[in-house]
Amino acid sequence: MMNKEGIYQTIFSELSAVLEGETHVVLKMSTINCLIKTHFPDYFWVGFYLMKQEQLMVGPYQGTLGCLHIPLTKGICGRAAREKKTQIVDDVLSDPQHIACDSATRSEIVVPVFNHLKELIAVLDIDSTQYASFDQVDRLWLEKIVETHFATEKLDGIVTT
Ligand code: SME
Repeated sequence: MMNKEGIYQTIFSELSAVLEGETHVVLKMSTINCLIKTHFPDYFWVGFYLMKQEQLMVGPYQGTLGCLHIPLTKGICGRAAREKKTQIVDDVLSDPQHIACDSATRSEIVVPVFNHLKELIAVLDIDSTQYASFDQVDRLWLEKIVETHFATEKLDGIVTT
């Protein structure tokens, strides 16, 4: 059984191969969701919330029905967007700001996504049905993935109005 570090190395390599030369945001987001979900089946909700008109709007995701809109003042996603910092919550039931799109969520990580101009364009949100699923290995690798695929070049296809 590969450890978490090894799994992320595999995901990163597969993404580098599959997304080489790609610049369309929805294509990248959908592919990142797919490979994270494939390699981490316990991460039952994997997806992006897009910054749109000063709030977060659900973007490409895999999992149960996600909330459609999240104000920046609410949720762990809103906190990640406001603070521009990755949020790791070991027990969402003890976080008063948590929004429960699915009552099965027990822990969560939310990673801010910046474009090549260092503007916040989205957050990557991952939910687990287990407590304390996420740690610094998740944070470092997920930040590396979004940095590599969204911040190193001009993208097309994202709704910015
Ligand atoms: N739990 C998130 C909301 C999005 S659902 O998990 C998909 C939050 O508290 O912002």
